[in-house]
Amino acid sequence: MQRKSVSEILGIEKPVIQGPLSWLTDARLVAAVSNAGGMGILGPNAGLTAETAATTPEETAEKLRAEIRKTKALTEKPFGVNLIPTPENDVWTPPILKVIKEEGVHAVVYTGYGEGAIIPALFDELKQAGIKIIYRDINPTPANTRLAESAGADVIVATGFDEGGTLPAVALGTFSIVPMIADAVKNVPVLAAGGITDSRTARAAHALGAGGVFAGSVFISTTESRVPQSVKDKIIAADGLDMQLFRTLPDYYRALPGKFADRLVSMDKAGASKDEIGQAMGGLRGLRIGMLEGNSDEGYISLGTGIGSIHNVKSVAEVVNELNV
Ligand SMILES: Cc1cc2nc3c(=O)[nH]c(=O)nc-3n(C[C@H](O)[C@H](O)[C@H](O)COP(=O)(O)O)c2cc1C
Repeated sequence: MQRKSVSEILGIEKPVIQGPLSWLTDARLVAAVSNAGGMGILGPNAGLTAETAATTPEETAEKLRAEIRKTKALTEKPFGVNLIPTPENDVWTPPILKVIKEEGVHAVVYTGYGEGAIIPALFDELKQAGIKIIYRDINPTPANTRLAESAGADVIVATGFDEGGTLPAVALGTFSIVPMIADAVKNVPVLAAGGITDSRTARAAHALGAGGVFAGSVFISTTESRVPQSVKDKIIAADGLDMQLFRTLPDYYRALPGKFADRLVSMDKAGASKDEIGQAMGGLRGLRIGMLEGNSDEGYISLGTGIGSIHNVKSVAEVVNELNV
């Protein structure tokens, strides 16, 4: 049987997906990706700032509804929302699920951490609502890929250690993980993630067996991205050699040098535990301060190792076209 393509499954023209980016997405970025023929994804705290951030799960879902409506006002094309379900005491997913069903959102990026996060009842609920499931495990393996596929995932993301954001527990680069996951799936296509920033890396992803690309860092550098110009300038000036890797919760992270990030790296070198570093890192608050507020004294700038191929700020449409190889 001929496998359906990513574009056919998701109802888009170009198999280029903008991965969810905590704090950094908004209606403008997501609509721009979808209008360019790819698929934009609203991530956690989309469109929000420290002042407007929600505190309760219900309020979070309603703020997401507002950003979904803004996105719908800017595009008629399909777009998605990030879900990060947990096996126990998950107070966040139910209200978000209710909102995305009511708003007719086309797809979710279902981010899982471990096989317990693959919840068959949730897959069923999404499928019954006609919502496409792009499954992205933080630690992709053949076993969790097969489990997600049999639970009903429509597309699988194979993320390599080259990526930005929360890193996999095992340091397998994109070149190693993509063919492994492409061989593990039976009938669904695979998207490659981690280090894809230009047409060369996108072509390599297809050569490795991917049916499309899933990128984060390069979209942070675009005209439509809401990060301040100072952060875009830093991305353009830096390359993968600048990125500092450190242990933290759940496993690893990497950041550009800066007062805050340097402290975390020093703690790691001095032998601090992952818990201690995780506590000092303060979760995603540091990402908001470093990347949305542009303050690397009190926050960090997380990016993938492929940033060396980003040489100027481009429009989202230029990036989507370049990654559509
Ligand atoms: C700053 C930042 C925040 C991210 N936040 C999320 C998130 O909230 N949920 C998620 O599933 N992935 C998140 N990611 C991962 C991206 O969706 C994507 O998988 C990754 O950026 C791909 O690697 P690249 O940066 O080399 O393109 C984040 C990545 C970055 C750089």
